[in-house]
Amino acid sequence: MVTDNLDLDIDGIARDGEAAIAGARSTDALAQVETGYLGKRSALTRAHRKLGGLSPDARKEAGQRLNDVRTRLESLTEARRADRLDLSEVIPEAVRSAPARGHLHLVTQARAELEDVFVSMGFTVAEGPEAESDWYNFEALNIPPAHPARGMYDTLYLDIGEPETVLLRTHTSPVQIHLMEKAVRDRTLPIHAVMPGKCFRLDTPDARHLPVFNQIEGLVVDRDITFGDLAGTIQIFTEAYFGAGIQSRLRPAYFPFTEPSAEYEITCTLCLGEGCRTCSHTGWIELGGCGMVDPAVFAAVGIDWSEWSGFAFGFGIDRLAQMRHAIPDMRSFMENDIRFLSQF
Ligand code: PHE
Repeated sequence: MVTDNLDLDIDGIARDGEAAIAGARSTDALAQVETGYLGKRSALTRAHRKLGGLSPDARKEAGQRLNDVRTRLESLTEARRADRLDLSEVIPEAVRSAPARGHLHLVTQARAELEDVFVSMGFTVAEGPEAESDWYNFEALNIPPAHPARGMYDTLYLDIGEPETVLLRTHTSPVQIHLMEKAVRDRTLPIHAVMPGKCFRLDTPDARHLPVFNQIEGLVVDRDITFGDLAGTIQIFTEAYFGAGIQSRLRPAYFPFTEPSAEYEITCTLCLGEGCRTCSHTGWIELGGCGMVDPAVFAAVGIDWSEWSGFAFGFGIDRLAQMRHAIPDMRSFMENDIRFLSQF
């Protein structure tokens, strides 16, 4: 072949280039191969420059072949680039070949488990709206306008042009009012219900607080209900959800809608009572409030409290899940870090 006189190993150039492109394991490596085999200093470009030393016919033939090789190497490079080479380097084979499968968020799982526990104890499950009127969120719960207890529940008010105040509920207790009003209307007392759902407060996020969080409310309205029924229910619940061996206690507290009222606490599962950052070095974590339904609440919904009595509780679902899984900081629930979420 005429071209051989000039040491133009065109087949060799093509072979080497193809092998190098096929062997490039990343976009960076491919870019280097591209410069090396197609760039100004490549064997291909140098071969082009040598063509001047050939006879016109040989020059034409060799030029054509070199152009073919260039076109071929260029299109192979493009095809290889489109192969998403870079991913093959950073993502292990096992992950690439198995399509990722999601699952329910830990808090959603906790809500379902809690519903199961309470259903097994004889409760039904009910839900109420997340946007409430002042009546449901406060007044019917014995929190009149300007009552200092409103300070515990600062939230977002919705300006929807209604004459009525509408706000994002600060707790699930308004669902108690909906259920009691309905039971009075439909004459379906007694009530044994739990009411899970989202709540909103003007809280700064920290290890134990989120401004959007979840509660599960409980309400029993029946005949001859005592504080003993409340304490026993909470005890049984604690064992069912956390397993035996976890210590819980009720501490006197104040809520306008229950009397007497208590705070429900368990031993911090992170430090087992030693004291740590998560429990603010107290060894205990408050999981919610509870108490006997206040007669003023019965009066607001038209239930005769000489005939009926009841108890109510409201537990933080996020906190329950946090303690159950010993999660140091509740903000992890909202960060959407797959390394955290995929553990549960
Ligand atoms: N609603 C109260 C809160 O969110 C908790 C609670 C519910 C207290 C029911 C007593 C009875 O702070």
